[in-house]
Amino acid sequence: MFVKSLMETNEESGLFHKLMHGLAGSIFHDEESGCRIDLSETRGVSIRVENLNKYFGEKHVLRDVNLEIHDGETFAIIGPSGTGKSVLLRHIVKLVSPDSGEIYIDGHPIFADNGQEASANYRYSMVFQSSALFNSLTVGENVGLWLREKRVCKEPRIREMIHEKLAIVGLEGTENLRTSELSGGMKKRVAIARSLAMNPDLILYDEPTAELDPVTTDELASTILNLKKFTKNTTVIVTHDLNFALYVADRIAMMHGGTIVGVGTPAEIKASDDPVIKSFIYTTTKGIKG
Ligand SMILES: Nc1ncnc2c1ncn2[C@@H]1O[C@H](COP(=O)(O)OP(=O)(O)O)[C@@H](O)[C@H]1O
Ligand SMILES: [Mg+2]
Repeated sequence: MFVKSLMETNEESGLFHKLMHGLAGSIFHDEESGCRIDLSETRGVSIRVENLNKYFGEKHVLRDVNLEIHDGETFAIIGPSGTGKSVLLRHIVKLVSPDSGEIYIDGHPIFADNGQEASANYRYSMVFQSSALFNSLTVGENVGLWLREKRVCKEPRIREMIHEKLAIVGLEGTENLRTSELSGGMKKRVAIARSLAMNPDLILYDEPTAELDPVTTDELASTILNLKKFTKNTTVIVTHDLNFALYVADRIAMMHGGTIVGVGTPAEIKASDDPVIKSFIYTTTKGIKG
């Protein structure tokens, strides 16, 4: 059932809006157990992108993208704007289909048309650039929205889960605050707590620092690093913010002109001889004139 609903989705359908408001998408074959979804443990998934190509009209946006992300890794995709980072991310959550190529999650192709057996069981959630919280709801209600909507557990357990997730992002005890009372950085962390509610195996961030100042960006970096102590999930971050990527990621891929031009650890990326990577690092860190 879930597989089917996911296959029918695209950008125009409801899935995009649900994902934007923090619902974890899932590919599950059996969700009939007590808590409906087993929310007691997290794991990571591996992702392999193979020769992915995408055109929008005449425009060749993704050009033979190849990429391997290991399970449990915090992986950043960096590059200038307009280079295809968000489009790539949207393929990974199946909001967009490629013209050619495939993405394998835990070795299973997600676009191949060969039925349920082929896909893996996993849950994913995405944190969008705008935190997309519901302003009429409290912090706790935002975090618990989908747990309640999907009736994943009984109410006392849901309250416990909301408390746990808020504690993980450093917002313990803020359940009753109005979202309008929060700073941009706090909103972002509430959005993360909400996306953690369903214990995703894969969490994706699109430009998480875009609306944040340097101080809240630093808080967000600490939050993302801290999450790794509590969860085993795979994290994929798309950002034009090189310093942020260098700080939080285990590995980084540099994207340019619709393709991946280099992959490495933060130290390797920083020391890269590749002219495109060097130029990106230079333009984003050049400092004062003179
Ligand atoms: N739905 C779409 N229709 C047409 N063109 C698109 C669509 N989505 C993205 N593009 C184009 O694809 C290119 C890459 O976009 P995007 O992935 O958003 O860049 P980035 O995230 O790296 O800034 C851009 O030129 C953008 O205009
Ligand atoms: Mg983008």
